[in-house]
Amino acid sequence: MGQSTDFNIDLRQMVIAIETAVSLVGMNDTNHGKRVGYIASQIGREIGFSDSDIQYVFELGLLHDCGVSTEQMHSSLVNHFDWDDAYIHCNIGYRLLKSFEPLAKFSKPILYHHTPWPELSKEDISAHDAMMANLIFISDRIDILAASHYETDILLAREGVVRSIKDYSEAYFSPELVSAFEKIERSEAFWIALENRHITRYTWDMGRLSSNYSLTLEQIKQLSLIMSYIVDQKSPFTAQHSVRVADLAKYIATIFGLSDSQCKKIEIAGLLHDLGKLHTPDNVLEKPGPLNNTERSIMDQHSYETYEILRHIEGLGEIALWAAYHHEGIEGAGYPFHPSERDLSIEARIVAVADVFQALVQDRPYRKGMDIEKVTNILIGFVESGKLDKDIVNLVVENSAKCFDIAKGDDPVHNQEYLNLFSDM
Ligand SMILES: [Fe+2]
Ligand SMILES: [Fe+2]
Ligand SMILES: [Fe+2]
Repeated sequence: MGQSTDFNIDLRQMVIAIETAVSLVGMNDTNHGKRVGYIASQIGREIGFSDSDIQYVFELGLLHDCGVSTEQMHSSLVNHFDWDDAYIHCNIGYRLLKSFEPLAKFSKPILYHHTPWPELSKEDISAHDAMMANLIFISDRIDILAASHYETDILLAREGVVRSIKDYSEAYFSPELVSAFEKIERSEAFWIALENRHITRYTWDMGRLSSNYSLTLEQIKQLSLIMSYIVDQKSPFTAQHSVRVADLAKYIATIFGLSDSQCKKIEIAGLLHDLGKLHTPDNVLEKPGPLNNTERSIMDQHSYETYEILRHIEGLGEIALWAAYHHEGIEGAGYPFHPSERDLSIEARIVAVADVFQALVQDRPYRKGMDIEKVTNILIGFVESGKLDKDIVNLVVENSAKCFDIAKGDDPVHNQEYLNLFSDM
């Protein structure tokens, strides 16, 4: 299905990357999506699913919470069995995936993954999707009930989990799914497999199976746009940051004279550069003042987290590095990898300049967005302190008005596509 000459990324690799990114919102617990995928696939196997449906529901489990960007929403979902506002993340997840053809098949079950079983018959959803939605619902709630017992007394706690799930049978879950769960839960192995060490290995193994769906460069860009939306939603102060960095980085790459495909790859790196911020606590991102040392040390881990998400995507190649190096400076200034000057590619330097430029233009909790003059002065200062590349900054200063418009989102050519995709969310 893929066509691009030097680009070949399997869809499943991207599904796993989305889960790795989204699960960072769970802070200390980053395996919820994996466990839901595993539980759902085990129940599916018990009721006689085909191999392809088993793989489908595993991926659905990985993706089901892609509408959750904040710690606050995450903890409400974890702490209440039936939270009134759960529909919000179902809606966001649905909207994100429905227009991306390779993942559109997951959108309906995601929309209804907190809808009680009896209500599903009133909704506009096929029997297959209704079953999948409810299978994710039950698997999700099994995991929530069990979550505090992993790594300690899960084999003792299982009885209570089973009792609660049975109590909710019919009112919430399809009786067929509940009885399949009762059968598989009798094996200790089912529960032990949910421990962190095992579930990460299991997911890793699943990731090695090809989905036989190869994504084109354009599709990777579309998917990166979706991922950028997820991270930019983390805080109103970072709204559209990644997409504007991507627009600006692409523009700088173009006027620098790089090839079309190189420019597109830089755009993708821009979209993905801050994915690791999904692991930065809400209160650090939104602190209305300068960060203290502890908060700064937490914040400064995010580009490594970005690297960790992207480096596992086979075929993404250098794009992972360009994204992960966005806080690296010349001759080892910056963080966290300190590449030598030779290893800091021009593409990474472009993303770094675009990132600083956009961040300065945007309002932050402790300061207002800056005007062109202030921004260019700061960029020139960063060249002097070795944080940014001189040639790139000079180019940006020469084209500062255009760069400013792009960074602010006032340049219609660049933001149109983005606005169309998520216009009424
Ligand atoms: Fe969930
Ligand atoms: Fe960053
Ligand atoms: Fe950034």
